[in-house]
Amino acid sequence: MGRTIVQHVDEAPWVRGGPRAEGVEKHPEGGGQLVGDLERGPWVHVNWLPGGLVAPPHQHDKDEVIFILEGGLTLGGRRCGPGTVVYLERETPYGFTVWDEGVRFLNVRPGRAAIEMHGTSRDPYRAPAEPAAAGAGREPGVFEAIHGLRAVRRYEDRPVPAEHLERILRAGTMACSSGNTQPWDFVVVTGRETKQRIQAQMREAFRTIDAERAQAPEALVDGAGRPVTGHAAIESLDRVGAIVVVCWNPDRGIRMKNEYAENPDGTLRETRHVPGGRGSSLFPACQNMMLAAHALGVASLFTTFFGLRAREIKQILGIPPRVFMECAVFLGYGAEQLGAARRRPVSEVAHADRWGEPWRPAP
Ligand SMILES: Cc1cc2nc3c(=O)[nH]c(=O)nc-3n(C[C@H](O)[C@H](O)[C@H](O)COP(=O)(O)O)c2cc1C
Repeated sequence: MGRTIVQHVDEAPWVRGGPRAEGVEKHPEGGGQLVGDLERGPWVHVNWLPGGLVAPPHQHDKDEVIFILEGGLTLGGRRCGPGTVVYLERETPYGFTVWDEGVRFLNVRPGRAAIEMHGTSRDPYRAPAEPAAAGAGREPGVFEAIHGLRAVRRYEDRPVPAEHLERILRAGTMACSSGNTQPWDFVVVTGRETKQRIQAQMREAFRTIDAERAQAPEALVDGAGRPVTGHAAIESLDRVGAIVVVCWNPDRGIRMKNEYAENPDGTLRETRHVPGGRGSSLFPACQNMMLAAHALGVASLFTTFFGLRAREIKQILGIPPRVFMECAVFLGYGAEQLGAARRRPVSEVAHADRWGEPWRPAP
């Protein structure tokens, strides 16, 4: 009787480590998720490899097909981007270099293959000439960090080391801002009791939130069926290592006369439209912090949901009424395994010169 395996690749177990493999904070050589039977085959492997990785020449004793999903690699002098199919007959020597942005590809094989290396390397994912490019503890390159970043909502109960927090905050302060006003103030919440008080507020705010959402229920899950709403993050709120609450300080942020007026309770209200708004000078700092965190093996989540209880949470944190609490970045160690992010292809969202003119990717 034949076997049937139906499995969504995002739920498939990681093999050879992975960016979020169990017990492995960061796997510098990448990893993959496998559907099928590793030994008996056939199997489909969704491989993720970081930018710059060099696979030295090697060969397998099984035929295989590689289908590039995202990013790319250069194999035998040929640039292989999304949509490229590579058929490799058994016993064919090959090696490749992964493009800066990394690569995600489907690999189909009839079963586990024996590997024969050519040259001095004993590992098909590590070139001996470039140990630094794949060595343990290496910080990822900028494209690798951008492509590997995910919104993590479930966290282990584990603090983020102070020196990591310092580097992450420093990365935040290096961001661009309107007129270089640097209007950010960061309240770094690590105390359990404070987190629990915020959690209680957020649980209350989320009790009825789903009924109020404008998006249809099917839009509230991502392509892998994972909720994009913040319920899981709220349940993890008292465990996450640190929450950086990002505030906009009018003393630095105001650029135009009559931009704001004061309300009787000391809060401010906008009295003039300013292009870009407050967030445009804070979100780059948040992205910097999340990328820096990723480079240090710290997972993150960008959130705006504290705005649902802004008055109460500002009070808990002692934030002055005239200061705007705009967003918060969770930082910690993920307790969920996530694959590569799913995003629309560039060709779907980029226009050449004029709206509607198709963007042509570089050859
Ligand atoms: C402006 C903005 C607000 C967001 N607010 C929240 C939030 O309040 N709660 C939450 O859990 N995620 C929030 N997110 C995270 C997004 O849901 C997440 O970035 C998106 O689903 C992509 O996730 P992925 O990178 O893991 O694919 C927010 C992201 C942005 C850019």
